[in-house]
Amino acid sequence: MSFAATSVSVAGASHTLAVACSGEMRLCALTPREQREYASLPHAARKRDWLAGRYAAKRALAARWDVPPDRIELASIPGAAPRPSLRNPAGSCSPLPDRLTIAHRDGIALAAAFPSTILVGVDIERAGELSPVELRYILSESERPPCDGVDPTLVWVLKEAAWKALGLTPRTPLSSPQLVLRAHTQELVAVRLGEHEFPACAAVSRIDASRPLIAAIVRIAREVS
Ligand SMILES: CC(C)(COP(=O)(O)OP(=O)(O)OC[C@H]1O[C@@H](n2cnc3c(N)ncnc32)[C@H](O)[C@@H]1OP(=O)(O)O)[C@@H](O)C(=O)NCCC(=O)NCCS
Repeated sequence: MSFAATSVSVAGASHTLAVACSGEMRLCALTPREQREYASLPHAARKRDWLAGRYAAKRALAARWDVPPDRIELASIPGAAPRPSLRNPAGSCSPLPDRLTIAHRDGIALAAAFPSTILVGVDIERAGELSPVELRYILSESERPPCDGVDPTLVWVLKEAAWKALGLTPRTPLSSPQLVLRAHTQELVAVRLGEHEFPACAAVSRIDASRPLIAAIVRIAREVS
């Protein structure tokens, strides 16, 4: 089993990030309610990825709250990341104030747990999977020149992580949030949404798997009440 739960600092704030491989998942980490949800999932690949995501999220929360992962329960919310709570020994649950962001691909999941006052999103995709042509669907006119020459998969994971961080609904296309990259270094410095531009930053990493993956965590500096 190779899990990593680590604290990463993005834009001066510390977040706990966990990475998990589904081949190393154990169903016993799930609560009875979660096991019922797992059983209802439609096919093996969805089960594998869902389980990897749930366990990565539990690891991230466990590290932030210093509790065993199996004391955490995650309630699924359609079109959003799950909401966490802490199970006490008598069986009742108390909501945890943290938010989660989850991404999974090929049985590998990335999750971050963070305070609800900040905006964080993660994404993970197969390296080399995307071509510049596919980016046309998610880039606005103004983003195309700055993203020219940047690895399309990197642009994609930054976009999707920014989209998740902003808590957008599935009706909002990926082209709505716009990436602002620093010239030459291609570093993410801001995200635009409509008239507003928010400072942002990203940590990007390559995950060596049978099919290598690119993962990103994006933090957007917008106040959340
Ligand atoms: C939601 C979306 C980001 C999921 O992307 P994906 O590549 O299929 O899956 P990922 O592994 O990256 O992320 C999945 C996780 O994101 C989380 N998630 C789902 N919807 C979310 C949202 N609105 N905001 C934040 N997180 C969300 C969930 O935890 C989910 O995992 P789970 O179902 O196992 O709990 C994807 O549907 C998307 O690209 N949406 C953009 C909007 C869009 O293009 N809409 C099309 C019509 S305009």
